[in-house]
Amino acid sequence: MPAPAATEAEDDELFAEDAWVETPVVVDYGTNVKLGQNVFINFNCTILDTCKVTIGARTLLASNVSLFSGTHPLDPAVRNGTKGPESGAEIHIGEDCWLGGNVTVLPGVTIGEGCTVGAGSVVTKDVAPYTVVAGNPARRIRDVPRGTKAEETSGARAALNHDSAANIQE
Ligand SMILES: CC(C)(COP(=O)(O)OP(=O)(O)OC[C@H]1O[C@@H](n2cnc3c(N)ncnc32)[C@H](O)[C@@H]1OP(=O)(O)O)[C@@H](O)C(=O)NCCC(=O)NCCS
Repeated sequence: MPAPAATEAEDDELFAEDAWVETPVVVDYGTNVKLGQNVFINFNCTILDTCKVTIGARTLLASNVSLFSGTHPLDPAVRNGTKGPESGAEIHIGEDCWLGGNVTVLPGVTIGEGCTVGAGSVVTKDVAPYTVVAGNPARRIRDVPRGTKAEETSGARAALNHDSAANIQE
C-alpha cells in the first residue's frame, strides 16, 4: 500500500487505476486470480480459482457472475464425494470485456478482448474477440460495434439524463 496522501481526493487518485471489487465476493483460493487495471467486479461474484483465472484491464463484471475453473470426474465412483480428485482448467477473460448479470463461465474458457456476454449466459466454449454472445449455452448474436461515438449509445443517454436530473435537484 502507498503512504496516505494529504487529502481524500489525492488519496483516491493513488488507487485510480486499481481493480475495484464490490463485496460480497467469494474466492476459493485467491492466489490464482489476476485482475488487470480498472477491472470492475460488481456484487456477489464467485470465483472458484482451482486453476488460474485472469481478467484483463477495463473489463466489467455485473452482479452475480460466477467463474468456475474447477471440475470433478463424471464417474461417481472416481468422484467419490469430497474424497475424489478435483481438477480444472484455466479461465482467461480478455481486456475491455463486459459480462452481464448472472453470467457463468465454465472451466477452460477463454473470452477474447472486447467481448460482451449477455445476462444469464453460460459460457461453455471460447469466444472470439469483439463478439457478443448470449444464452445457455452462449452463442454469438452479433459482432461488437467499434468506433461508436459515446453520445450515440443508449448508455450515454441514460448517464446524461441522470446528470441533468442531478443538476435540476441542485
Ligand atoms: C447482450 C446484450 C448487451 C445484447 O444487447 P443487444 O445487442 O441490444 O441485443 P438485442 O436485444 O438486439 O437481442 C438480439 C437477440 O439476442 C437475444 N438476447 C439478447 N440478450 C440475451 C441474453 N442475455 N440471453 C439470451 N438471449 C439474449 C434477444 O432475445 C434477441 O434474440 P432474437 O434475435 O431471437 O429476437 C443485452 O441483451 C444484455 O444481456 N445485457 C446485459 C445487461 C446486464 O447484465 N446489466 C447488468 C448491469 S452491468
